[in-house]
Amino acid sequence: MSGHEQRVAFSTELKQRRQNLLNDLPPDTVVLLRGASLVTRSNDTEYPFRQTSDFYYLTGINEPDAWLLMVSGKKPREYLFVLPRDAEQEVWHGRRLGTEQAGLISGIRQVYELNELNRKVLNALGQHRQLAWSFKVDSAQGQHRQRWLDKLAASRNLTTPGTLIDLDPLIHELRLFKSDYEIKLMRESAKIAVQAHRRAMSMCQPGRYEYQIAADIHHEFATQGTAGPAYGTICGSGENACILHYTENTSRLQEGDLLLIDAGCEYQGYASDITRTFPVGGRFSAAQKRMYSWVLKAQQAAIEHIKPGNTLPQAYKIAAKILTEGLIDLGVLSGSVSENMKSVAYRPYFMHGLGHWLGLDVHDVGAYKVNGEPRPLEPGMVLTIEPGLYIPPGTQCNELYQGVGVRIEDDILVTAQGHENLTRGVPVEIEDIEHLMQPGSFT
Ligand code: GLY
Ligand code: MN
Ligand code: MN
Repeated sequence: MSGHEQRVAFSTELKQRRQNLLNDLPPDTVVLLRGASLVTRSNDTEYPFRQTSDFYYLTGINEPDAWLLMVSGKKPREYLFVLPRDAEQEVWHGRRLGTEQAGLISGIRQVYELNELNRKVLNALGQHRQLAWSFKVDSAQGQHRQRWLDKLAASRNLTTPGTLIDLDPLIHELRLFKSDYEIKLMRESAKIAVQAHRRAMSMCQPGRYEYQIAADIHHEFATQGTAGPAYGTICGSGENACILHYTENTSRLQEGDLLLIDAGCEYQGYASDITRTFPVGGRFSAAQKRMYSWVLKAQQAAIEHIKPGNTLPQAYKIAAKILTEGLIDLGVLSGSVSENMKSVAYRPYFMHGLGHWLGLDVHDVGAYKVNGEPRPLEPGMVLTIEPGLYIPPGTQCNELYQGVGVRIEDDILVTAQGHENLTRGVPVEIEDIEHLMQPGSFT
C-alpha cells in the first residue's frame, strides 16, 4: 500500500468507528471526548506524549490537548479541535498537525483551532437534551465541564442537558472487538515482540545483567519503529521471577537460575505482551524441567479452550487444576486435587488471573462479564493466556523449587474456528528453547 492509500484506509476505519459509536447512542446526543495533555516528568521537561487510547481509537490524532465533539442522529455531526499552528512553539517543541492535517488523518471535515471549542460546545450542549461523556474525569477536564454547565445554567436561551450517558463502556465495548485493520497491527506488534524475545533468549549468558537483556529486547523494539515497550519490561532472574511486577532488572544472571522475561511493544498504538521463562545457561535442570512442564501444560490446555462460546473463567479453572496437580507433584501441596481445588490451595503460588484483553492498552478495556455472567468469547477478541507458578523461598518443599518463578504468556486471537496464537514464534517447548539458546542458532 502506498502512503496515501494507508492514510485513506486509516481515516476510513476511523470514520467507521465513530459511526459505530454514534449508532449506539440515542439521536440528538452530544458526545464530548478530550485527548491527553503532556505530563510533567521533572521541572520543565515532559514525558513523551501518549494519547489516551479512546481518543486515538476514534480520531487517530496523536497530539496534546485535542477535543472531539459529535452529535448523533440522522445527520451526525463531527467536530475536532486541535492546537493552532505556531511557528515559534513548533521550533521549540516540534511540529503541530494544524487543522488541515488533523482533518486528513481523522477524516473529520470540521476541524477547528482550540479557541473555537467553548463556543461550539456551548452551542451543541444548549440545543440537545442528552450528553455522553466519560464519567471518569480529571481536574483539568472537570473545570472545563463545570464552566460549560455553569454557563448553560446562567443562560436564558440555552438549556442544560437532562440526561447524562457514560461514554466509556460504549467505546470500550467497540474496542473489545478488533477489526481486520486492528488485527493486522496487532499481528505486527506481536511479530516484533516475538523477534525481541528470540533475540533476548539467544543473547542470554551467565554473568550478564538483567538490564542488559532488557536492552536487547528494547533494541529490537526501537529498531523496528515501535513506540517502545507497552509496559515496564520485566527481566527477573532467580528469585526475582517471583515478584510479579519486578522491573528493577538490576541483578547479575547466575548459571543454574531461570530468567523470566515479560515484555511487549506498542506498535502503532497496539500492545503485545509475551512472557517466557528459560535457563540462564541454556539448559534446564531436571527440577526446572519438571516445574516448567506443569506451567506449559496448564498454558497449552487453557489456550486449547479458547474458542467462541467458551469463557475465560472456564480456561482459568482448567489451568488452575493442572497447576494444582503440578504443586502436588512438586511436593508443595499434599492431598487430592479436588480437595486442593476446593480450598483454592494453589492461590499463594498462582496469585494472578489467567489473562486479560489486549489491544491499545496492554490490560485492554471491555467488560469481562455481561449481566453478571462470564462473557462468552467471540471472534475478534484478543486476550493473553499467562498461567504461572511462583514458589517463594522458605516454602516447605524440595529446596530446588524454592525461590523459582515460571510464567508463560501468549497473545491469542479468537477466530470463528477457534483461536490463533499470535506469539507462537517464541519457542516454548523445552527442546526448542535449548536449541535457540545454542550459540549460532538465532537468525
Ligand atoms: N505484563 C503485564 C501482564 O502480563 O499482564
Ligand atoms: Mn499479560
Ligand atoms: Mn505480560
